[in-house]
Amino acid sequence: MNHPRNNHRNADRRSTGGRTTLWQGTSVVLRAITEEDIPRFLSDGVVDDMRLYGDGYVPFPVTDDVRRELLLRSTRPPEGDECSLAIEAAGELVGSISTDSCDPRSGSLWYGVAIFREHRRRGYAIDAVTVLLRYFFQERRYHRAGARVYSFNEPSINLQARLGFREEGRLRDAVFTMGARFDVLLYGMTSAEFDERWGSR
Ligand SMILES: CC(C)(COP(=O)(O)OP(=O)(O)OC[C@H]1O[C@@H](n2cnc3c(N)ncnc32)[C@H](O)[C@@H]1OP(=O)(O)O)[C@@H](O)C(=O)NCCC(=O)NCCS
Repeated sequence: MNHPRNNHRNADRRSTGGRTTLWQGTSVVLRAITEEDIPRFLSDGVVDDMRLYGDGYVPFPVTDDVRRELLLRSTRPPEGDECSLAIEAAGELVGSISTDSCDPRSGSLWYGVAIFREHRRRGYAIDAVTVLLRYFFQERRYHRAGARVYSFNEPSINLQARLGFREEGRLRDAVFTMGARFDVLLYGMTSAEFDERWGSR
């Protein structure tokens, strides 16, 4: 016999489209980054990827100790709405996603995402970004999300388009790296545009 408490739980599941938590996507779960995750981040080289694709420059070679120090910051609890989270798929760590420059008054946030090289092109970035944005729009009452993308980063340009972000601005020649100047593309999406594309659940 179905216990009344289970009916309540089933109703909860229905109201979240079968997900047991808002942090669960189709194939990924977002969770806190732990110290045990750090060796996996170090082995992938994703820290250097984030310097180039997230900050727009090729960094000096540094030791794993220095990289570990940088990664340890991600294990701290979120400050306000600024968070760094691990992306897990089938129980395996596959990347990370973070928010920055969050302004709860205007309801504006920026985000960045990185997937480990061997796990790319499996839809994990799309899934992780929609989970993150659904949380900020439906739980934290945010109104818009933005992404800054360098013009040399074609995978990310395509990712923003697939997610439904619009190009809202272009800072011409704003970065110099790898011997050339590149633009910074500014992408944005409102919560209404997100709902229209991805559904409100
Ligand atoms: C950009 C990045 C996060 C994409 O992650 P991913 O899990 O491979 O992306 P998905 O599998 O969810 O792909 C979503 C869409 O992104 C685009 N895309 C992803 N990788 C691409 C590539 N190598 N070339 C062209 N388009 C690509 C496609 O439009 C794709 O949709 P499709 O598969 O239906 O064509 C990943 O390449 C990465 O970690 N890059 C380094 C860090 C970075 O650049 N982060 C973004 C900073 S703004």
